Amino acid sequence: MKKFIVANWKMIPLRAEAKALVEQLTSKVLAATNLPQIVICPPYPYLTFVQEMFSGAPIALGAQDCSSHEEGSFTGEVSVTMLKECGCQYVIIGHSERRHYHQESEEILRQKVEQALKQDLTVIFCVGESKLQRENEETYAVIKRQLEALPEKISHAPLVIAYEPVWAIGTGLTASFDDIKNAHDFIKGCMKKIEQETPVLYGGSVTGENAQEILSLDNVDGVLVGRASLNMESFWKICVA
Ligand code: PGA
Repeated sequence: MKKFIVANWKMIPLRAEAKALVEQLTSKVLAATNLPQIVICPPYPYLTFVQEMFSGAPIALGAQDCSSHEEGSFTGEVSVTMLKECGCQYVIIGHSERRHYHQESEEILRQKVEQALKQDLTVIFCVGESKLQRENEETYAVIKRQLEALPEKISHAPLVIAYEPVWAIGTGLTASFDDIKNAHDFIKGCMKKIEQETPVLYGGSVTGENAQEILSLDNVDGVLVGRASLNMESFWKICVA
C-alpha cells in the first residue's frame, strides 16, 4: 500500500504563498518517481486554483471540513457536492480543532461522514486524546468512543483514520514511537472488527526530521502534517521519507 502524506494548510497561507507552495511541489512531483499518495488540503477559497495548478501531477486535493447537510439554507457551510465539483477526492472530518473550537459532536461528525461517503470522497477521520485524557489513562477509551461515531455501514468505504493526539498538534511535542505504535495497533484492531482494512496516519508535530522514523513504524500508513507542510523544504523531506 502506498503511504499517505496529507498536508493540512489550516487557515494559514494567503493566496500568494499557497501559489508558491503548489508551484514548487508540482515541479518536484513531476520530476520524481515512486512517490507516496500526496494530498493537499488548502482553505476552501483556494481549492479550485490549487487543483488547476496541479496540472496533471499525481497530487490529490482534499478539503479540511464539510457540511453535515446535503444542501440548503446553511449560511457559511460548504457541501460535499461543492467540494467534489472543486476537484476534491478527500475530506478531513473530526479534526480536533473542529471538535474543540466548533463543538462538533459525535452525531454531527457521523452526519458529515455519511455526506462525504455519498459523494465517494475519501474521509480522513481524525481521532486522538487530550493531555488530560492521556494523564487520566483514558487514551484508548477516547479513541474507541470517537471511532464508534463512524456510521454503521462503514465497511469497505473509502476511509483513512488519522491518529492525532491533541497535545501533540502544533506544539512541537510528538508522541513517543511506542505510543504511536500502540495507538495504531489499537485502531487497526477496532477497524478490523467492522471488517475494514483501514490505513492509519499519524499527525502531531511531524517534521522533516522525525518523519522517516515515524513512517517506518509498523501500522503507520502515512502522516497528516500541519505546520511543516507550509515549508516546501520540510514538506518535501517528508514526502521522500
Ligand atoms: P501540526 O498539525 O503538524 O502543526 O502539529 C497537525 C494537524 O493539525 O493536523
